[in-house]
Amino acid sequence: MDRILIRGGRRLSGKLPISGAKNAALTLLPCALLTDEPLTLRNLPRLADVDSFGHLLNQFGVSTLIEGSRPEDFGRVMTMRAGRLTGTTAPYDIVRKMRASILVLGPLVGRAGEATVSLPGGCAIGNRPIDLHLKALEAIGATIEFTAGYVKASAPGGRLKGGRYTFPIVSVGATENVVMAAVTARGPSRIENAAREPEIVDLCRCLVAMGARMEGIGTETLEIEGVDRLHGATYAVMPDRIEAGSYACAAAITGGDLTLTGVAPDDMRATLDALGQAGVTIEERGNSVRVTATGPLAPLTLSTAPYPGFATDMQAQFMAMLALADGASVLTETIFENRYMHVPELARMGADIQVRGRTAVVRGAARLTGAPVMATDLRASMSLVLAGLAAEGETQVSRVYHLDRGYERLEEKLSAVGADIERVGDG
Ligand code: EPZ
Repeated sequence: MDRILIRGGRRLSGKLPISGAKNAALTLLPCALLTDEPLTLRNLPRLADVDSFGHLLNQFGVSTLIEGSRPEDFGRVMTMRAGRLTGTTAPYDIVRKMRASILVLGPLVGRAGEATVSLPGGCAIGNRPIDLHLKALEAIGATIEFTAGYVKASAPGGRLKGGRYTFPIVSVGATENVVMAAVTARGPSRIENAAREPEIVDLCRCLVAMGARMEGIGTETLEIEGVDRLHGATYAVMPDRIEAGSYACAAAITGGDLTLTGVAPDDMRATLDALGQAGVTIEERGNSVRVTATGPLAPLTLSTAPYPGFATDMQAQFMAMLALADGASVLTETIFENRYMHVPELARMGADIQVRGRTAVVRGAARLTGAPVMATDLRASMSLVLAGLAAEGETQVSRVYHLDRGYERLEEKLSAVGADIERVGDG
């Protein structure tokens, strides 16, 4: 397995391009199932999860064509065509490696009248249930049954009828699934307490480009008018607000000066505001954001929340940054039950962090010291990279396959702005 070696203490400076959003791509890709015409996605990030999703779509007979792009380009163009589906089952060996596979459930039952998906199981950050996905689909007419570790959703008579559903808690994936199923239902659907993340807005905009009809995009109430069929489209994936936030933390933790290009600042308002409160200078110019750390970082009190609140996907990265702040910070993780796997690894680098239940108290240390550390999940692995960039000495991050799921060509992007970082294979 590959490892990443970082020799820390270097101030990052320069321009850093931001890729298309992983969490938007993973809900845009299954939209190809909703039409027999080609769907072309632009600005697709080169990520392991995007490749895995393409293989999953191939299981159903969807053709996936990556159009020419130079190796040095960021982002790819992929055209998918689900002319005639040859299957409606997502197998365990794919789903267990990528839990976002559950996002084929809604579009498959919407297009083919049925879908069978292996139950995804949990992951490092929590047990990740899918009960809300299933309740929302039932509310618009699906019948749900479980057999041998699989869940099957069916539309009686071959087509969902539409309906109303109010989410008891905000769920990004469940909102995505029910929206993708509702757009071709026989009648109207009203979804309340829907997630409002920018990735949901991206999904809705792509579906509208394909001929879907809906009101309330970006709000917690979505009114969807089912249509008989959707047509193909060409759609560009939104910039990755979490990747951008992660590299903004890299500028902050190294006392650096980075200009992030190809970003959507409005999608990351809570992150930029938190960085400002920590004493980092933020200058927005269109789709670029300049992040400059000029002095010691101020401690923060932050609580993760659904959008537009502070993103849970930014918690680990902020914890690494605040490990060097000038005082004690208090972080509360309200979304996932086990999203502090990075804490013991950061502690091995000298961070002073006390976790009690959902709350972590981070007392700023004078310095961090490089050490061999192990990645456990995607955002935890990024927090270790950030700590390594600021630490004295060498940090070796193992199990970097976690990183490859969410950060396109991370070493290349960081080396280009002055980091001493390299990937080494075990041969
Ligand atoms: C999406 O996961 C993202 N993944 C996550 O990003 C992100 O952390 C999360 O949304 C929250 O913003 C993708 O978009 C591929 P949820 P998702 O359903 O959809 C509970 C990353 O690092 N819940 O909004 O799985 C759930 O356990 C990843 O890029 C139920 O109880 O998140 C959690 O506590 C990590 N029942 C809360 O809701 C359900 O049926 C929010 O989960 C579904 C969820």
